[in-house]
Amino acid sequence: MFFVRTASRQDLEAISALLSQTWHHTYDGIYGAEKVDEISASWHAPDTMEARLEKLNAEFIVADDGIRLGGVAYAAMDPSQAKVAVLHQLYVHPDCQGEGIGSDLLQEIAEAFHDATTLRLEVEPANEKAVAFYEARGFSKTGHTESCGGDSGIPADIYERRLR
Ligand SMILES: CC(C)(COP(=O)(O)OP(=O)(O)OC[C@H]1O[C@@H](n2cnc3c(N)ncnc32)[C@H](O)[C@@H]1OP(=O)(O)O)[C@@H](O)C(=O)NCCC(=O)NCCS
Repeated sequence: MFFVRTASRQDLEAISALLSQTWHHTYDGIYGAEKVDEISASWHAPDTMEARLEKLNAEFIVADDGIRLGGVAYAAMDPSQAKVAVLHQLYVHPDCQGEGIGSDLLQEIAEAFHDATTLRLEVEPANEKAVAFYEARGFSKTGHTESCGGDSGIPADIYERRLR
């Protein structure tokens, strides 16, 4: 039974491994394993994620069953747009998908930002399972970016859901 809690420094190695494994499972067929390795080394290194632990107006959470981490999510208020929270990551380990962990993490994020009226995310259009997951949870497409995450050079669709 997984429960959702705030991420801590002790989780960073396990989060990094979870993200790398889930990225390969999700994106090797879309971007190729080499590109996934490149992105993972840059975005998912424990050092890169450490700054999130102290970040204000942000939510960094994991799903934990006492033995292992099954999923991770990270969201933060958009510094350039008032009342918009951005879901930067929502990843559930392939062994644990379809058990409700992603829904629990998303619900926790949606409830965490009291000043936000909109929750925004970027998703790879070829990632049909994720698109279906978000659409079933009230998100709709509002735009497109040519560089997901700001610097990846990977195009993505932008989805939003009203929070209140
Ligand atoms: C998309 C994701 C976050 C959903 O989390 P989850 O824990 O598998 O989802 P839940 O168990 O809460 O809900 C299952 C729902 O997700 C869908 N789903 C998405 N991926 C699935 C998978 N691999 N296995 C089973 N169901 C999946 C199901 O259709 C189901 O939808 P429904 O409830 O509307 O019928 C998770 O599958 C995941 O991490 N996928 C890979 C990484 C990814 O794409 N992340 C999003 C990047 S923007």
